[in-house]
Amino acid sequence: MIQAQIERIDKLEQQHILPKEELITLLDGQNEALSAYLFSRADAVRRVNYGTDVYVRGLIEFTNYCRNDCYYCGIRRSNPNASRYRLTEEEILGCCKEGYQLGFRTFVLQGGEDPFYTPERIEHLVRSIKSQHPDCAITLSVGEHDRETYQRWFDAGAERYLLRHETAEDAHYRILHPPELSLAHRKQCLWDLKSIGYQVGCGFMVGSPGQNSSQLAEDLLFIHELQPEMVGIGPFIPQKDTPFRAQAPGTLEQTLFLLGILRLMLPQALLPATTALGTIHPKGREKGIQAGANVCMPNLSPTEVREKYALYDNKICTGDEAAQCRNCLSMRMKSIGYQVVVSRGDHLSRRSK
Ligand code: SAM
Ligand code: FES
Repeated sequence: MIQAQIERIDKLEQQHILPKEELITLLDGQNEALSAYLFSRADAVRRVNYGTDVYVRGLIEFTNYCRNDCYYCGIRRSNPNASRYRLTEEEILGCCKEGYQLGFRTFVLQGGEDPFYTPERIEHLVRSIKSQHPDCAITLSVGEHDRETYQRWFDAGAERYLLRHETAEDAHYRILHPPELSLAHRKQCLWDLKSIGYQVGCGFMVGSPGQNSSQLAEDLLFIHELQPEMVGIGPFIPQKDTPFRAQAPGTLEQTLFLLGILRLMLPQALLPATTALGTIHPKGREKGIQAGANVCMPNLSPTEVREKYALYDNKICTGDEAAQCRNCLSMRMKSIGYQVVVSRGDHLSRRSK
């Protein structure tokens, strides 16, 4: 049995995709021995493409106001216990300045879909950051917008966009979101972003309520079709003020297994070992890197607001200064034989030769 699964992993490494039924069999067969084999292959593939470099992105969670009501999310609009904040442009520029001094060359601006932050304001923000840090990349992660808006931000200098598709199956999407949101629109946004020329990141939560192997296989097939430059996956973690407060979290083992599969599917992808992974296990991020990831996204937001961006419970690093996070991460990576590098960390296909 294990031999057949090992052959499946080898086939995935060679062909970068498997038929849906085989993906399901592989996912269902996850165990310690198979994971060890998968991670060794994923690590080898990552080393061929990116060596042992770990790219860091300075994450700036600039607003927790959101017009949406996703059932899993702690900053959903109908959570009356969320203490709302938004950073000003000046404060965001301050975070970038500090981040630059700490060696960050990519800033990720993430937030809820906050009506205050209109397309004009975000364009202005992107232009301001670019004028102060022309050697840095800007990643936006501000949800669903129309194509013109995405184009406008791209023209202003944003070169990457993170928009997790959350799940590639309609029925599952309905379990996770209120009726006004649609998977078709979310996917359309990803196609728009890609055709505009962004380096695009999709992704999903592992172990979200109602998820099974068939849906995970659909996620993998969709990712194969989209061919994103980045894929963000992390465990679902319940948040106490959401409808999913009593649901079980995703597991470390399954998240790592999926990271390994993603590395074999997309050898050159930028795959973060996420904060959520670090939240469910003290060594979650290190294990994520060892399973095939090559990116970490430490928080650059001011400490006063960190706790308020509470997507899920017990989030790590909410009390630490940016410099502490940066140093802690360098030590963690060093301890497993990898190194944090000062670099924009573009996808290999976007680097000048
Ligand atoms: N508003 C933007 C969007 O919709 O893409 C970006 C912010 S949103 C909070 C970023 C990601 O957080 C989501 O794509 C989701 O996968 C993740 N997230 C939200 N709630 C979570 C939870 N309870 N556990 C783990 N991840 C969660
Ligand atoms: Fe909007 Fe989570 S519901 S960011």
